[in-house]
Amino acid sequence: MKTIFARIYQKILYIFTKFIKFREPIILNELSDVVDVLKKENKKHILLLSGKRVCKEEFYIYLFNLLKDNFNILDYNEIPSDPDIESIEKAVTVSKEFNADAIISIGGGSTMDAGKVVAARLTNKKSIRKMRGLLKITKKPIFMICIPTTCGTGSECTVASVVTDLKRNEKYAINDPKLIPQYAVLDPRVLLTLPKNLIATTALDALTHAIEAYIGKSNTYETYLYARRAIYKIIYNVETAYNNKKDLNSRELLQQASYEAGIAFTKAYVGYVHAFSHAISAYYHLPHGYLNGILLPIILEAYGKSANKKLIDLNHEVGINSNNPNDFIEKLKDLLVNLNQENNLCDIIKDEDIPKMIKHIKKEVYPLYPVPRYFSDKELLNIFNKIRNIA
Ligand SMILES: [Fe+2]
Repeated sequence: MKTIFARIYQKILYIFTKFIKFREPIILNELSDVVDVLKKENKKHILLLSGKRVCKEEFYIYLFNLLKDNFNILDYNEIPSDPDIESIEKAVTVSKEFNADAIISIGGGSTMDAGKVVAARLTNKKSIRKMRGLLKITKKPIFMICIPTTCGTGSECTVASVVTDLKRNEKYAINDPKLIPQYAVLDPRVLLTLPKNLIATTALDALTHAIEAYIGKSNTYETYLYARRAIYKIIYNVETAYNNKKDLNSRELLQQASYEAGIAFTKAYVGYVHAFSHAISAYYHLPHGYLNGILLPIILEAYGKSANKKLIDLNHEVGINSNNPNDFIEKLKDLLVNLNQENNLCDIIKDEDIPKMIKHIKKEVYPLYPVPRYFSDKELLNIFNKIRNIA
């Protein structure tokens, strides 16, 4: 009964989505392009948002100096990874005092997600908790530019922001087309100093976006196309970027793939991999991309027949000449080995937390995610056993 309700909900949403205007951000290719854009938009008070790692990078200092010469700048570098409600509210308070009329978020998914929520909170009185879910943002956020500095998330083009609620041990999404920034800067040179493990984990996040979108039931011609392109580019470039510090071409292709995967999942959604990943990360604070990478083959196997046809398509897309869906899953497992991503979850996940995490997973998946099929409680428990290598 619950499944029938979820499928009807998704169908209605699918039809409704066709009438919602999904903007795509305008793409800029150089960091310096933001100056002209902000001048053209007549912006005066710019909030420059980042985290502790990025604000020390040369490209950041270059951008900061450019902006400082032309605008009033609030340089705020306090965004943590997995931004929580309290940290975002602190940024909102200082931005209000500064009277920010534009926000540049430069960093990975955490910074861009936080920036989108700050932009929305500056124009909406509603609390962050009340923005949870779908279409809860009433007023247009302030002007936003996102500059991704990792190979994943796609936050620069999506409707979503993921926030952590530390009081409730939960991680959840705020989804609204108003959260799509006006501009995104895709300059692969900012990826040249990204540590190799972050190249791997953020690319695995983008790969998960594309695969979960592709195997879901709410695709359009466009989302299939974007997802397939992203999967191909990531599978054939992530190892090169991981192993070659200076290879700009693979980084450029990963950056494009992250964006394309973002466009695919913002319309076709994600699935159980993200729901498990959010639940586990809320309890044990592990990196999102790492968890997605480890969980992806396990969940794809658990879908069984319901995902087979799509996985065979993906075999052909990435040049595997086989009609066995497991061959695509094996390819993903090989990729994890080559990127040195080991499953360390057996010693981390505690028995007593599993029922609570299952509750969070079900809450995230029903009725929004158009997954190939729904898992029973027993199957969810089995997946946890597989994740912990005890099944
Ligand atoms: Fe993700």
